[in-house]
Amino acid sequence: MTLHLADAEATAALAGQLHAVLPPDTAGWTVLLEGELGAGKSTFARALIKTMGHRGAVPSPTYTLVEPYQLPGRIIYHIDLYRIADEEELRYLGWTELEDGFRLVEWPDRAPGLMAAADLRLELSYAESGRDARLQGLSERGKALVRQIDDSACSNSQD
Ligand SMILES: Nc1ncnc2c1ncn2[C@@H]1O[C@H](COP(=O)(O)OP(=O)(O)O)[C@@H](O)[C@H]1O
Ligand SMILES: [Mg+2]
Repeated sequence: MTLHLADAEATAALAGQLHAVLPPDTAGWTVLLEGELGAGKSTFARALIKTMGHRGAVPSPTYTLVEPYQLPGRIIYHIDLYRIADEEELRYLGWTELEDGFRLVEWPDRAPGLMAAADLRLELSYAESGRDARLQGLSERGKALVRQIDDSACSNSQD
């Protein structure tokens, strides 16, 4: 699905829409956040982490690579691969140990192999004003979620 995000609040609202359809158990889910610098990846990630129940700051994982958030019933890993030069380096951040959590990945293009294992992909790009967004389901369960968001967006616009 594609949509226009007029401002940062709209980017955050999209995170809310995704949260509304996520299953209670998100262990092993991977969401890829793509887009150039300033496109709104962190805005989306921050809004999602907060709406999932985190109180407090959501610092950028640019230097730490991974910021974990232990919440009741789930763990979120906010991951930033900007500083990763090639896929091999993923093992330094212990990628395989992050399977118990909900992985939100900025700059996933640094590790193209992630596409095959991911559930959702959000591509953000600059528009004349605001941003354009494309939300795509990669796995079967991811596709089902996108259909749900699409359906609720349609019924809202008919209100
Ligand atoms: N839909 C939008 N329209 C206009 N500005 C936005 C939108 N979404 C986010 N922003 C703003 O863009 C700036 C960069 O966002 P950020 O999330 O840090 O980008 P990224 O992580 O992709 O580099 C922030 O000031 C944010 O408020
Ligand atoms: Mg960012």
